[in-house]
Amino acid sequence: MAATLSLLALAILATLAGASSRDCPPCGGTEIPYPLSTSSNCGDPDYKLYCNNNSLEFLSVGGTPHPVLSINPEAYRLIIHVPAIDMNVCSSSDLFEGGLKIDESSPFNISNRNTVMLFDCNETILFSPLNCSSNSLCRKFEETEEGSACRDTLCCTYLKDSRMTSHRIRIRVGGCTAYTSVVDIDPNDPPSLWNFGIELQWLPRRT
Ligand SMILES: *[C@@H]1O[C@H](CO)[C@@H](O)[C@H](O)[C@H]1NC(C)=O
Ligand SMILES: *[C@@H]1O[C@H](CO)[C@@H](O)[C@H](O)[C@H]1NC(C)=O
Ligand SMILES: *[C@@H]1O[C@H](CO)[C@@H](O)[C@H](O)[C@H]1NC(C)=O
Ligand SMILES: *[C@@H]1O[C@H](CO)[C@@H](O)[C@H](O)[C@H]1NC(C)=O
Repeated sequence: MAATLSLLALAILATLAGASSRDCPPCGGTEIPYPLSTSSNCGDPDYKLYCNNNSLEFLSVGGTPHPVLSINPEAYRLIIHVPAIDMNVCSSSDLFEGGLKIDESSPFNISNRNTVMLFDCNETILFSPLNCSSNSLCRKFEETEEGSACRDTLCCTYLKDSRMTSHRIRIRVGGCTAYTSVVDIDPNDPPSLWNFGIELQWLPRRT
């Protein structure tokens, strides 16, 4: 009887210990829902994020940290910051690594709710199916202060949908050199109401 009780107590203790190390502690003020992980001993380390000086970050393959702006655990989605465009040259801060690249084997990919705008593009892009017309939404961004270095460059807009790679937003010298992204855009809204960010989704964990 005593042996059974202590076994039961052990089982309960083990469960409690398991629960407390399952979720990662908050980073700064941000809760980290399971399976997202900021350390090898909590969450599922495949779902890697970084807690750097109380700021939660997602790292691209090239190592650029993208601060996490919001997390929606029910929808398995999170929104990361778009790298800034230089105020003087039409160039994104991650141009050196070719834009955003996510490891193909990671559980994260780029969701299909992102409207991506490319700037300072090579004319060869006009042969692509992207919308590079004079009333393309990217023109509205070129009028804003943040986009001013890209004003009057050739720009194009596309919805990041399932027909294209979901692990990459590509820019390069000689192609397009800057980009931005807006989540769930309403084409009638002015840029001041756009939700700038890159929305990622993660594969639910198989249990
Ligand atoms: C950490 O964040 C604080 C507050 O934002 C800042 O003052 C400090 O310089 C940062 N430290 C490092 C090492 O980045
Ligand atoms: C390009 O986008 C603009 C703004 O959304 C739209 O009015 C126009 O019809 C689009 N053009 C093409 C060729 O899709
Ligand atoms: C545009 O692309 C073509 C073909 O890749 C290349 O030969 C040309 O140098 C590029 N133009 C610029 C201005 O980079
Ligand atoms: C991205 O991941 C989601 C699951 O998180 C999956 O449903 C979707 O098909 C993936 N998209 C592509 C294009 O691979």
